[in-house]
Amino acid sequence: MKEPIRVLFVCLGNICRSPTAHAIFEKKIIDEGLQHKIIVDSAGTGDWHIGRAPDPRACEAAFQHGYDLTQLRARQVKPEDFSEFDYVLAMDKQNLLDLKVMTPPQFVGHLGLFLDYSRSEKKEVPDPYTGGKEGFEEVLDLIEDASNGLFEHLSGQLA
Ligand code: 4NP
Repeated sequence: MKEPIRVLFVCLGNICRSPTAHAIFEKKIIDEGLQHKIIVDSAGTGDWHIGRAPDPRACEAAFQHGYDLTQLRARQVKPEDFSEFDYVLAMDKQNLLDLKVMTPPQFVGHLGLFLDYSRSEKKEVPDPYTGGKEGFEEVLDLIEDASNGLFEHLSGQLA
């Protein structure tokens, strides 16, 4: 595997789930001293929130768990992402379908669900946008767990 390994987290709006994954996984990478070997980014399949900071509810839930989302800004997935990123990880099955439609035939990376790296029974990170605070808590728990699994997987790739 070439280094650095590049990981892109994708959800719909890039203001709730994927920025949460971005910040949590990036902190793990930095804590483990692997920030030069693994690069992290996030994007949305939709364009409604381009340039915006993450949802305040996502920022608050992340802050309670020791993560800072406030510097991130939403962007939309772009064609070049498929040549730049080795792992494109979708938060839910609809995001994955939307990404599959965009994937060029020459893409050689891994496109899949982020929660495939989780120990949870759940395979999708539920969209918390229209729900309450507890939805954002669940997003955090699912993402922390999947981040540990993804980290173990990528460490193995680097070893
Ligand atoms: P995200 O959540 O995909 O986790 O960022 C959403 C954010 C915004 C919308 C939907 C989901 N929206 O419809 O604007």
